[in-house]
Amino acid sequence: MSVTVRVPAKVNVQLAVGGARPDGFHDLANVFLAVGLYDEVTATPADELTVTCEGPGADQVPLDRTNLAARAALALARRHGIEAAVGLHIAKDIPVAGGMAGGSADAAGALLACDTLWGTHASRDELLAICAELGSDVPFSLVGGAALGTGRGERLRTLDVGGAFHWVFAVADGGLSTPAVYREFDRLHENENEAVAEPVASRVLLDALAKGDADALAAFLPGSNGLQPAALSLFPKLADTLAAGRAAGALAGLVSGSGPTTAFLARDAESAHTIAEGLLASGTCEAARVAASPAPGATVID
Ligand code: C5P
Repeated sequence: MSVTVRVPAKVNVQLAVGGARPDGFHDLANVFLAVGLYDEVTATPADELTVTCEGPGADQVPLDRTNLAARAALALARRHGIEAAVGLHIAKDIPVAGGMAGGSADAAGALLACDTLWGTHASRDELLAICAELGSDVPFSLVGGAALGTGRGERLRTLDVGGAFHWVFAVADGGLSTPAVYREFDRLHENENEAVAEPVASRVLLDALAKGDADALAAFLPGSNGLQPAALSLFPKLADTLAAGRAAGALAGLVSGSGPTTAFLARDAESAHTIAEGLLASGTCEAARVAASPAPGATVID
């Protein structure tokens, strides 16, 4: 018997970053939108904890106990006093180290898969608490839809979304480390005399989401990602990808989270396909993926 869970990627339609905290994290106003690109995590009884992975970029995924999916299984087992005797298989479709929460998705997926396989019946609050211990973006991967994350991004408030948004994601040739991007953010701000402003969610953005208004969302997106200057500083070629997406007809483009995936908002599904073709033809990305939002959170599918 095994259990398979499907988990979505995310794009941050606002990532307002505050100053570095004493614990090294940054306070955020992080507006997450789950998008329909998914990893699948399958948990199968085994003699000991193992992790296997297939799909694009699988060779860059660690298969030891540093893997977030393995850590999720261990955390649940420890709380319930059982052995984490499980084989975890990750079928990846979310770009690895791309700023789309692929590792967080695998953690949330493994947690739900193990909870179902083992019959541990953790409450939603217990699952969310384990997710928050594993990483700032992991609670959102469990919940999906759209949410405002505060604190380091782990405290969630669900948001209304009034319609579908259509996206194209340009996968970069390479990855970026999230801590490195935050360090670059700190470096870019260290010469400023004023403290970094306290992060707050934009009312204009929340209205655009609630109405499902793509034009209003597009008007808000430029400058909405506080990590974008840091990602561009570490990966300057992303400026060419952003220009190519706009030239191909995107309503707006931005770096997804800490990057280096770039996200382009399209008017509709048909336009998204045209933009994806234009991005590929421009030679400024490795792959272009079309996906709609919002998408559901971690779901048992098998
Ligand atoms: O929480 P998570 O493990 O995903 O964070 C990865 C890294 O990103 C942290 O170690 C930290 O360097 C940075 N980070 C941050 N502030 C946040 C979230 C993440 O500085 N709110």
